[in-house]
Amino acid sequence: MLNRRDFVRRGAQAALVSLAAPSVARAFPAPLAAPWGAPDRMAWWREARFGMFVHFGLYSVLAGEWNGRTDYGEWIRNNARIALEQYNTMLSRFNPTAFDADRMAALAAAAGMKYLVITTKHHDGFALWPSKQGDFNVARTPYRRDLMRLVADACRRHGVVPCWYHSIMDWHHPDYLPRRDWEKGARTADGASFDRYVQFLHAQVEELLTWYGDIGVMWFDGEWEGETWTYARGEALAAHVQRLSPRTLINSRVVGQEANGLEAKLSRPKLGDFGTPEQKVPDRGLPGVDWESCITMNNNWGYNRADDHWKSVPALVGLLTETASKGGNLLLNVGPQGDGAIPEASVERLHGLARWMKSHGDAIHGTEASPFDGLPFRVTRTARRINCFLPEWPTSRELLLPGLRTAPQRARMLGEVTRESLPTRSVDQGMVITLPDRASDAVCSVLALEFRQPPVITGA
Ligand code: GLC
Repeated sequence: MLNRRDFVRRGAQAALVSLAAPSVARAFPAPLAAPWGAPDRMAWWREARFGMFVHFGLYSVLAGEWNGRTDYGEWIRNNARIALEQYNTMLSRFNPTAFDADRMAALAAAAGMKYLVITTKHHDGFALWPSKQGDFNVARTPYRRDLMRLVADACRRHGVVPCWYHSIMDWHHPDYLPRRDWEKGARTADGASFDRYVQFLHAQVEELLTWYGDIGVMWFDGEWEGETWTYARGEALAAHVQRLSPRTLINSRVVGQEANGLEAKLSRPKLGDFGTPEQKVPDRGLPGVDWESCITMNNNWGYNRADDHWKSVPALVGLLTETASKGGNLLLNVGPQGDGAIPEASVERLHGLARWMKSHGDAIHGTEASPFDGLPFRVTRTARRINCFLPEWPTSRELLLPGLRTAPQRARMLGEVTRESLPTRSVDQGMVITLPDRASDAVCSVLALEFRQPPVITGA
């Protein structure tokens, strides 16, 4: 089975080769029999449980501000109705000299994020790599450097799997249809050919999947303009990715949510490897479906200078334990400033996550959903371990795990240095563990029960 380390290493080898010959940079074995959804392709991603999302582009330079309004984000060109010619002048202002891919990857790695998904092109159509398709890209800015190269290489140096976000919707390309409602008068659609746009899209995706070594995920977005982005076109794009890079995972936004929405997915043929609930964690997870909640640290994906609605470190740890306990991944967003630097508030939160993950990451990575129903606290499990997350220290020292019939070999608080087991006793309703007097962590204490055999749990 291919694990995350293989991904990171193979990519690194490919990157070396690519110095000499960019077009033969990849060294994939023959395509896997099952194109997507095969469990072995998903293994590293399921184990990871936690990744970093990065929204960065031309819009970052505007920091959310236009004509006195300060509540814009990466949608600024559309929402502030900025004419294309005017937005194009932003190229000369893009010079993110403080962009430090190594620091970004190191922050992610330290926080226990095993993969990093960065915008290669958002809806505004600006490509962060020197694409040979069209000229709306980083090569036409004062910065000129290939941000995808910097990120892919830095990720591999830090043991993080590089992944690409890519927008299907494109507000810049002349052949993309439909036009925005508000610009129909100013930007004619005469002569536009969506089929030609699809060729461009496929060609850009090919660059992204063949220039930079193995890529963990193609994370598509902007798929909802269904008059043009049909299910068949989504299918063709997924097949294109699969052909170029059989092991690369594809999110379900490759086709419109209506055709392939999370709900619809249960009854329709599956397309894409995982669902992407946005800014929320589904109440009961999504049983039977792989999923990843993508969530912002404040209220915006792209950098917004005025947005100080930052979630606290305990709240972020809470989101992580919630997604893991429901069997999903968390993709937590960072929106670098126009100069490329990661906002200090985000750095502080990543440090906070790193501190907690250092002693509790084992209760997140490689775990599965809670086997218990309706507990007042969150739980993850592996074959021989149960982890209980206790952000508030219970008023009673006696913690009941209902239906647990196997006595643990050892019960301990993670991060505590003691060889002794906490006392446990079997009762009619299950297993009672006697907790220590005090919480073991100020953010979220974790009780780990270790078993010799996979434990028996009844009534779960
Ligand atoms: C949305 C938005 C977008 C953001 C994304 C993240 O679909 O259009 O701006 O990139 O979700 O999930």
